[in-house]
Amino acid sequence: MRDIAQLPPLVTSGEIESLKRQLADAARGERFLLQGGDCAESFDQCDSPHIAALLKILLQMSLVLAHGTRKRVICVGRFAGQYAKPRTSPVETRDGVTLPAYRGDIVNRVGFEARERTPDPANLLRGYERSALTLNFIRALVDGGFADLHHPEQWDLDFVRHSPLAADYRKIVDSIGDSLRFLETLAGTRVDQINRVDFFTSHEGLILLYEQAQTRQVPHRKGWFNLSTHFPWIGVRTATRDAAHVEFFRGIANPIGVKVGPDTTPEHLAWLVETLDPAREPGRLTLIHRFGAHNIAKCLRPLVEVVKRSERTVLWSCDPMHGNTETVVPSEGPWAGRLVKTRKFAHVLAELEQAFEIHREAGTILGGVHLELTGENVTECIGGARGLSEVDLSRSYRSQVDPRLNYEQALEMAMLIARRTSGKR
Ligand code: PEP
Ligand code: CO
Repeated sequence: MRDIAQLPPLVTSGEIESLKRQLADAARGERFLLQGGDCAESFDQCDSPHIAALLKILLQMSLVLAHGTRKRVICVGRFAGQYAKPRTSPVETRDGVTLPAYRGDIVNRVGFEARERTPDPANLLRGYERSALTLNFIRALVDGGFADLHHPEQWDLDFVRHSPLAADYRKIVDSIGDSLRFLETLAGTRVDQINRVDFFTSHEGLILLYEQAQTRQVPHRKGWFNLSTHFPWIGVRTATRDAAHVEFFRGIANPIGVKVGPDTTPEHLAWLVETLDPAREPGRLTLIHRFGAHNIAKCLRPLVEVVKRSERTVLWSCDPMHGNTETVVPSEGPWAGRLVKTRKFAHVLAELEQAFEIHREAGTILGGVHLELTGENVTECIGGARGLSEVDLSRSYRSQVDPRLNYEQALEMAMLIARRTSGKR
């Protein structure tokens, strides 16, 4: 830990303050937050194709969302540090053998052997280093390597044909292309020079000693900044009174996220907002709710009401992934009879749709989404325009933890949100 405390920070306090201002705008409905990436990054996938593909899908989604919402989009990746995983069970049993659960590459490794599952402190340093490598590449891509992605003509939109909404999707894409060309004509310059998208980083602040090692004071600014990431969040399992996480997060000046789930009571949420945002600072607190499509209708309203009563400007964001995880058993194909963790595109969308509606009725604003996604062509979630089914899951299931939307499903989700927020149902 001493090593990490001496090494340079990964992000700066100026960037953190800038993100906080932008999140305050989103809380007021003036911007929209897109937060997305892997459930868990892995050391092995700290490579150019993976990072570039993730950045590409986030950038494309942000253009689609900006077009639909008519708001500037804040792009926050679950990357450059998303290496630690909370687990429901501390152990995993396979064929009668019980080993410690995989807790993310920053703790132990995913292979099912005692040696791999034994925590190794050297992984903390490797996690810090890989975060720095990831961020270095992201900054370079954002600064210059991404120009052509601003034009939908260059996107992979083959899947659009398979959707009953093909005509609508086409219209969205054509209209983005037209707007960008118009903007370029007016400005006499390429759009990537006019509208550079800033990417911010985020991860679950789970391993507090790691977070603490990068938490510092900086000249000319008040408070302590966690400089391992712009936007750390507290997971649903550690947002409790007895965990040390709330206490640690209370002391840092970053904008912070808190996951809110079906077990969060209104009283507990009132305590969380009071504890984590005593100064009532817009942009400080983002509440990321994740109930599941079947629970959101009964869970969200009382929580919205209690926050309204607290008279704080929090940013509400919807994570439609973590409440919709289910286990299926494919009846045919290579994985027939096996238990497979997946999520249905239709459930993810249904939770999001309800979230927009419930906030609208309550007079609050859904100002962001939080998605687990990848820029690659994986088969981990079911549904979407191509109609992936249980049988397809075995084809390219690569996630080490939770199932992610693939490139096409993620872009389609952005189009559906854009379609909804632009008034078409
Ligand atoms: C996650 O975001 O990967 C996660 C574990 O979420 P939650 O804390 O909401 O379960
Ligand atoms: Co996850």
